[in-house]
Amino acid sequence: MTALRNIFLFLSKNKRLTMVAKKYGFRFGASRYIAGKNITEAVEVIKSLDRKGLSVTVDCLGEFVDNEAEANATANHLVKLIETLGQESLDAEISVKLTSLGLDISNDLALRNMKRILDAAEQQNIFVTIDMEDSLRCGQTLEIFTLLKLSYKDIGTVIQAYLYRTMEDMHVLNPYSPSLRLVKGAYKESPEVAFSEKQAIDDNFKKIIEMHLRNGHYTAIATHDDDIIEYTKQLVTKYQIPYSQFEFQLLYGVKVDRQLELRREGYKVRLYVPFGEDWFGYYMRRMAEYPANPFLHKNKFTGK
Ligand code: FDA
Repeated sequence: MTALRNIFLFLSKNKRLTMVAKKYGFRFGASRYIAGKNITEAVEVIKSLDRKGLSVTVDCLGEFVDNEAEANATANHLVKLIETLGQESLDAEISVKLTSLGLDISNDLALRNMKRILDAAEQQNIFVTIDMEDSLRCGQTLEIFTLLKLSYKDIGTVIQAYLYRTMEDMHVLNPYSPSLRLVKGAYKESPEVAFSEKQAIDDNFKKIIEMHLRNGHYTAIATHDDDIIEYTKQLVTKYQIPYSQFEFQLLYGVKVDRQLELRREGYKVRLYVPFGEDWFGYYMRRMAEYPANPFLHKNKFTGK
């Protein structure tokens, strides 16, 4: 299983395959995880989720952009997405990857593009989360986040439980009262920077969930792991954390029954909804998490 996981994670960064995949459209069951090729298709999916009481954070797929024109075009696309979402009365946020906005070209370019996005989001009252990518970009991402947090209220980022540096990052971020999405971590990392044993990752995950909730900051617990979900439920009961201070987040297309069950139990549930033609890297990471996927499951929302 580990070998298969590594193969999928290796493929997720292959630029040539990404280009080919873009040309040929969704394949091998990718539509289970991806809400369409364009904004119009994605909005239809978001509306159907909204009718089920599920909130969303929308991701316009794309990452590891290596030229300025493409980075600026992505920012334009995100501004358009924000304007479209602003016209609908949906509980919709957006998620962005700094490498899609030019982080690998320069911090300044990514920062400039982020400011355009945040200005548009501010006008529409839309919250923006900066996704966390691989560990090489973690420091830069947090630097940009803390800088922007000084000027923008509705911005959050992601912390990955598998990184050794995470506990230290949590202490550094605490004075900013950040809204954080806490995850296990989805990239292929070396044992020099990250835990690889499930138990160690889960233990760290539980620690940062408790820490952030007890510090009184908004916490998105983004996982499909029943044990972590159960742990969080017990924690919020024990410390009387108000339901308005946290939410569960799951990926569109994963554990659909669980999403609805949590919602029925009264928890806020937000789905991460990606769309766009640049689907390959995202899909490979989902396969790495659960390689049996594509041939076994259908998306209960769309039937695809
Ligand atoms: P774990 O991998 O232990 O899975 C628990 C159980 O869930 C599995 O046994 C399986 O049954 C089921 N499951 C998990 N993944 C599945 C899949 N793809 N298909 C079907 N079943 C599956 N990572 C990151 O590095 N940066 C980020 O910004 C984000 N953002 C993000 C947002 C949201 C809303 C979620 C839910 C996740 C992320 N992630 C992420 C991904 C995260 O780091 C992690 O890789 C996945 O969530 C899988 O880990 P779990 O916590 O679900 O546990």
